Amino acid sequence: MTNDGSCGRAPRWALVLGCSVGSGAAIARGLARQSRLDVVGFHRGNHPEAAEAVRRDVEAAGRRCVLLERDAGRLESIVAHVEDLAAILGPDEGLRIAVHALTGASLGPVACPERPERALHPRQIARTFDAMAHSFLFWGQGLVHADLFARGGQLLGLLNFQDESTPPGFAAIGGVKGALTSYVRHMAFEFPRYGVRVNALRFGATETEAFTHVPSADTALENIARVSPMGRNVDIEDVGKFVSLLADERAEFLNGSIIPFDGGETAAYAVQMLEPARRSAGEGRG
Ligand SMILES: NC(=O)c1ccc[n+]([C@@H]2O[C@H](COP(=O)([O-])OP(=O)(O)OC[C@H]3O[C@@H](n4cnc5c(N)ncnc54)[C@H](OP(=O)(O)O)[C@@H]3O)[C@@H](O)[C@H]2O)c1
Repeated sequence: MTNDGSCGRAPRWALVLGCSVGSGAAIARGLARQSRLDVVGFHRGNHPEAAEAVRRDVEAAGRRCVLLERDAGRLESIVAHVEDLAAILGPDEGLRIAVHALTGASLGPVACPERPERALHPRQIARTFDAMAHSFLFWGQGLVHADLFARGGQLLGLLNFQDESTPPGFAAIGGVKGALTSYVRHMAFEFPRYGVRVNALRFGATETEAFTHVPSADTALENIARVSPMGRNVDIEDVGKFVSLLADERAEFLNGSIIPFDGGETAAYAVQMLEPARRSAGEGRG
């Protein structure tokens, strides 16, 4: 029951921002198949066939699917997108989960005196932060203001480990994920009074369209798979299945959590760095 005595919105829907390919597509499928939720998804239309395949799979799972071809990362449009979303949800229906899976980060060095045009530009930083961090905050704000979450609903961000590591050229991504981490904590403190929880899933390197923009993407994935105790990279199906677990009502007390999900790959980096020292210590002992 809500404060006004009504039962509130029923938790029927999942919202997936960035739903046509990659993690967002797998999350949309997982939420339809395993969590039995209807899906509203946003994408910009760069992968029309993949978007159609998501629609087919969600509908094949017996759920409704509405895909909107809009830029969900433009801050000034979010209020209008939320109004469109409100018109799609029935008056008694709400979101059990909203997942922010938007991309759009720029790669590049902070300084490059020999070729300054290669260095990060203020416009790239502004776009990266708008799409991947600030839009999370303003989607959360818009959904709460419009009261579109069912009671106990959840807003979920997707993080990686780049705010704690320093691969060359990743300053914008590291910065944006650091900002998102902080937004999650602040929003998780504010939102439960409106019946909404806020968490983030922090997953390891995954082969997706976005990951192909990483220099030497294939080698990076191979190296990570080699050191991972699980013997392979995280894949988008792993992410899709785990998000449906997070959407389960048995996870209803989870709030303000940054959940690591990397098969042990991050711990393995530390072991790898220690390896030469351990080897020489072993040799020293004879
Ligand atoms: N891949 C990894 O290794 C990894 C690891 C940890 C966390 N993550 C995080 O997971 C999230 C998704 O990454 P991904 O690798 O799955 O990306 P991806 O494969 O490139 O997919 C991104 C999806 O979002 C849509 N999209 C992007 N910007 C949009 C916008 N402004 N408005 C509407 N739709 C938009 C894309 O479709 P359109 O192009 O048609 O819009 C596509 O459907 C990111 O936040 C990323 O940092 C990724």
